[in-house]
Amino acid sequence: EEIKIFAPATVANLSCGFDVLGCCLQNVGDEMLLKKNDLNQLRITKITGADLPMEIHKNVAGVAVLALLDRLGSKQGFDIEIDKKIRSGSGIGSSAASSAGAVYAVNKLLDDPFTNNELIEFAMQGELLASGNAHADNVAPALLGGFSLVRSYDPLEILGLPAPSEIRMVVLHPMIEIKTRDSRSIIKQNVTLASAIAQWGNLGAFVSALYTNDYKLMGRSLHDAIVEPVRSILIPYFDELKKLALDNGALGFGISGSGPSVFAMCQGDSAAEEVKAGYLNFLQDKEVGFELHVSEI
Ligand code: HSE
Repeated sequence: EEIKIFAPATVANLSCGFDVLGCCLQNVGDEMLLKKNDLNQLRITKITGADLPMEIHKNVAGVAVLALLDRLGSKQGFDIEIDKKIRSGSGIGSSAASSAGAVYAVNKLLDDPFTNNELIEFAMQGELLASGNAHADNVAPALLGGFSLVRSYDPLEILGLPAPSEIRMVVLHPMIEIKTRDSRSIIKQNVTLASAIAQWGNLGAFVSALYTNDYKLMGRSLHDAIVEPVRSILIPYFDELKKLALDNGALGFGISGSGPSVFAMCQGDSAAEEVKAGYLNFLQDKEVGFELHVSEI
């Protein structure tokens, strides 16, 4: 018995929802092949496209599946093959794709003992290993699709949100690596009341806009006065890219997860193409290499 799956990339935070909001990129992701084995042993048998640990306890997919099997008290063995297409340290949920993909596939091979929502907490164990923090804002949308919101971490409560069909995400990845662990360590632990007010106003409005397909409101809500000013310093040409995206008609712009990728949220294919063309033109004489993705949610 085996299953081949697509494990999507994700954009976490989306400016207004640090650690609680994320969305799934339908067109960007890894491929994984999982098989049952008769050895009572969980094994990573092959990884292509990235240099990652094959040892179960050091691999995010390994620890996520172990958490699931532990809960079931199951000794079933599995062989996991991962074809990484999402670069690690890119800010579009590379570790989350592996963790979420692995638990999703194992759950299917075991005839669905858990719902996709219940799988999130197992996948979070992979995030804990990768970054030292069990955030859910990448693994939740990877498992649920569309947008998702973490209402609470303790107890864990995660909501799936609608994905307006015209949204296109233009994701630009400058070819530098930023470890989530490092970019979390530079964030201040306290916020002012004024920035908290701005942030929860924007987050509430963004969620409302997803239900009413109000694209302009989505754009107005994509702001971050707390984390972006600190993290954007690590991202080459951040201010120029932001201005360029917004001048070219993007609804909003921000850091994808912990960076260095940045996202421009656009309405429709032609708006996304315009933002992409603007980037390519700007970047042609720059020294940093870039990778660009345009994706539906
Ligand atoms: N919310 C997490 C962070 C996402 O920004 O650190 C990491 O991809």
